[in-house]
Amino acid sequence: MKRLAVIGLGLIGASCCAAIKKRAPDWNISGYSRTEATRQQALAKGLIDQSFESIAGAVRQADLILIAVPMGQFRQVFENVDATRDSSSVVTDAGSTKGSVIRDIFSVLESIPSWFVPGHPIAGSEQSGVDAANPDLYVDHQVILTPDLNTAADAIDLVSFFWKIQGASVSQMDVERHDEVLALTSHLPHVLAFNLVHALSDDDEHLEIFRYAAGGFRDFTRIAASDPTMWRDISLANQQALLSGIDRFAERLDQMRNAIARGDGDWIMQSFDRARTARTLFSSLTDQGAHPVTETHPSVFTTTEASQGITGTIRVPGDKSISHRSIMLGALADGITTVDGFLEGEDAIATVQAFRDMGVRIEGPHEGRVTVHGVGRDGLKAPAAALYMGNSGTSMRLLSGILAGQVFDSELTGDSSLSRRPMRRVSMPLGQLGAVLATSEDGTPPVKISGGQHLMGCHTDMQVASAQVKSALLLAGLYADGETSVTEPAPTRDHTERMLQGFGYPVKRQGATASVIGGGRLTACHIDVPSDISSAAFFLVAASIVPGSDLTLSHVGINPTRVGILEILKLMGADIEVMDAREVGGEPVADLRVRYAPLNGIDVPESLVPLAIDEFPVLFVAACCASGQTRVTGAEELRVKESDRIQSMVDGLKALGVAIEGTPDGAVIQGGGPDFRFASASVEAHEDHRIAMAFSVAGLLSEGGVVVNDCANVATSFPNFVGLARETGFPLTVSS
Ligand code: S3P
Repeated sequence: MKRLAVIGLGLIGASCCAAIKKRAPDWNISGYSRTEATRQQALAKGLIDQSFESIAGAVRQADLILIAVPMGQFRQVFENVDATRDSSSVVTDAGSTKGSVIRDIFSVLESIPSWFVPGHPIAGSEQSGVDAANPDLYVDHQVILTPDLNTAADAIDLVSFFWKIQGASVSQMDVERHDEVLALTSHLPHVLAFNLVHALSDDDEHLEIFRYAAGGFRDFTRIAASDPTMWRDISLANQQALLSGIDRFAERLDQMRNAIARGDGDWIMQSFDRARTARTLFSSLTDQGAHPVTETHPSVFTTTEASQGITGTIRVPGDKSISHRSIMLGALADGITTVDGFLEGEDAIATVQAFRDMGVRIEGPHEGRVTVHGVGRDGLKAPAAALYMGNSGTSMRLLSGILAGQVFDSELTGDSSLSRRPMRRVSMPLGQLGAVLATSEDGTPPVKISGGQHLMGCHTDMQVASAQVKSALLLAGLYADGETSVTEPAPTRDHTERMLQGFGYPVKRQGATASVIGGGRLTACHIDVPSDISSAAFFLVAASIVPGSDLTLSHVGINPTRVGILEILKLMGADIEVMDAREVGGEPVADLRVRYAPLNGIDVPESLVPLAIDEFPVLFVAACCASGQTRVTGAEELRVKESDRIQSMVDGLKALGVAIEGTPDGAVIQGGGPDFRFASASVEAHEDHRIAMAFSVAGLLSEGGVVVNDCANVATSFPNFVGLARETGFPLTVSS
């Protein structure tokens, strides 16, 4: 049994009492409130076991003391707690600002005691008081703890445990970061809501106005019904961070005012559109159970055995490679480019965002449609800050080529996975053209590009078969004097070459060499993005291995440089029919019908490896279900993708009971044949979208289900994977 003392029985404190009573009824709770009526109510509702008129009484013998009072009372309450607590008790708080708490404690003790763990539950309601106590207030919400180096580890453990049993997830941040983030995501919106309602209520006709205020006003101002005392205290406690948030907002509002005054519909449209895209992305993050203030979005996929085949007709989202390029070339073109079928995934959005940051007006994506108002080959503007590429290697490498030819300096950064990936493969050959790019010492991002260089076309014999390197060189070649040519050691995807031609820019192709002559211009066009064969691959394998399957994937891109997956699966005996092959906007497209068929192990021809480079994670899964051995060689590039894909698959498949050995450039897999079942286990996706989806497919043939951790990055390439998978018969659930 634990003894908990709750100081302050408002919404936050009383909801903790209610949650603990519901989920850990053996805890004993002492409650303190300044008001007699509140104490009586808390007792009557069974929220506390005993009430006290003094803090000293409440904290006696407590294991854990929660201070849940308005920020303005914190210092005085803390003094009291400090003077009367047992020496072994741990103290935490629930205040919305953390810098002020630390300052208050410092002013009392001149140090921060190891027994104090600052905390902030990111939950609340516009309702206040003990009456509003809600036992589920913290379920699926984040609690941020801001301990310092001196805080005792067991104190942090106890406070984490306290919140976790209430259903919350707990993360840690430093104090300054917490206050900055919360100023923008919580305190500023409250100030704005209070302010808007106040401004309207000054109006003589406010009753009339409120009577007719519809959904927008109601939604926007819900939080203006919150407790004014609490929000006054928060506003003053987080003064500096809030002031800078208000200043930033005021500047934007001023710009919007000016745009409206001068009737600048384009400016307004761009601003609204950008906000809308950001809001949609934010919703997709929060819908996955993540909270916007954390940088990681924990997401766990669990697939259990499919009792029936994978069936139906689906269209997977737009091709990632083509989507990126449509924005890049559309931005550099003269005129307005329209794109249909655009992939609304985080990677492609990173590219959209980067070009917006360089002054390009881009509308959408909205239901797959994007409109890019090209600025011409030399029309990009210097971005105000580093361009953030998220998880997207394609964005970073192709943009390196484009930015190498600009007159301004720039910098490209990315998330933790991208920050580990090799960038010298682009910085070195671009250097041969006269570009100046710097990476970190080990050749990884950030990539810093010095603009204003005079690029001279030259020839490059590529060391690795990489479409990204080839594309970076060709795109830099648009800005170079004379001819830029590149020879690839094996065929790689040729979307850049095709699309440049679609924009009226000549590309010479001779055998393994592609070349452009600098100085030309691109003319805007319309682009139809086919479905991504790399996303279709998960379904091609799923339907091939689950008996009774019959699935049609419509409008899939079957560019010859991408069809390695079809060739390899066919060599393994898969039943895939290519139907209604046609050409759409310069790219070949078809509907693919796939039916269950027993597979055989093969030695994958090395010539097919670059044509299926992104599909190996799920091909490994197919190989496990084939009869006999499958050997993959010549695929060392897999080690430098979003994760080391050989290692990620070997580790996970071993945990699932597969006889697999990794090699430096591939793997050898002993397939179990049609009756094979994966063992039930929990495996890691290593923040790699394709690893996550590959293991989700494995679960379809598992004895007791496969749990895949760390799947949030599926949103980078296949935002509606879960929905489509379920539609075709995957028993797939998501949790956080
Ligand atoms: C891509 C090329 C491939 C591929 C990546 C997308 C592209 O990378 O793995 O997902 O759009 O050019 P490499 O060119 O590095 O092999």
